Amino acid sequence: MRVVLVGPPGAGKGTQAQFIASNLSIPKISTGDIFRANVSGGTDLGKLAKEYMDRGDLVPDEVTIAMVRDRLSEDDARDGFLLDGFPRNVPQAEILKKMLEEWGTGLDIVLELVVDDEEVVRRLAGRRTCSQCGRIWHVEFDDKQDDICDACGGRLFQRDDDKEETIRHRLEVYQEQTSPLIAFYADEGILVGVDATGPVEEVTQRAMEALRPYT
Ligand code: AP5
Ligand code: ZN
Repeated sequence: MRVVLVGPPGAGKGTQAQFIASNLSIPKISTGDIFRANVSGGTDLGKLAKEYMDRGDLVPDEVTIAMVRDRLSEDDARDGFLLDGFPRNVPQAEILKKMLEEWGTGLDIVLELVVDDEEVVRRLAGRRTCSQCGRIWHVEFDDKQDDICDACGGRLFQRDDDKEETIRHRLEVYQEQTSPLIAFYADEGILVGVDATGPVEEVTQRAMEALRPYT
């Protein structure tokens, strides 16, 4: 199955992606995670991306698209994948469509995680990520008293772009550049909205329900 997850920053794309991809046994491909790995590895790509990410702006399309093309060409993505954070604007969506057509395939479904701005700010301000396994936690909702990952013992950190000012800017960028994707995929007839409020497990259940006809 070929799935795209869209939604504003903090909607829970990364959180849901880890459960959905594992339920469906497909690789989770997160452009944000790939950029962050490059930033912490100090690669040229990371140095370039960091400047945009720290401001909450999108990394230029040619860089992002080349990176996604490489990743989707890997063996484990041949029979399916879950894209988290890509596409992020209409030009990226058009190129993805062409790329998949060239490979004789296409997307099955685009899941839109729907949540309001106030909840997004609350979620992102309390987010912590494991530096070892990448698992996502929340100080309040997961009742984290320390900065140790309960899954692997790794140390948790706060993302540089999770400052309130940068969060607001990322929301503006989402409205201006990413939200037109909703109409784009509705026109394609593959968009399904999922209520992303409430406990994580309930959101996963709703998402799996929406995916059922395609499994
Ligand atoms: P990216 O990493 O994709 O960030 P984002 O889209 O801003 O999304 P987030 O990761 O912030 O949020 P999320 O929806 O994954 O929420 P999460 O599950 O963590 O991109 C970062 C940057 O990289 C971009 O700004 C850009 O510069 C660059 N970039 C990436 N892709 C690009 C592209 N295609 N083109 C150009 N540039 C690109 O959840 C948030 C918090 O809420 C967590 O603490 C979690 O525990 C909690 N939570 C989740 N679900 C629930 C729930 N149901 N109830 C309570 N708490 C919850
Ligand atoms: Zn961990």
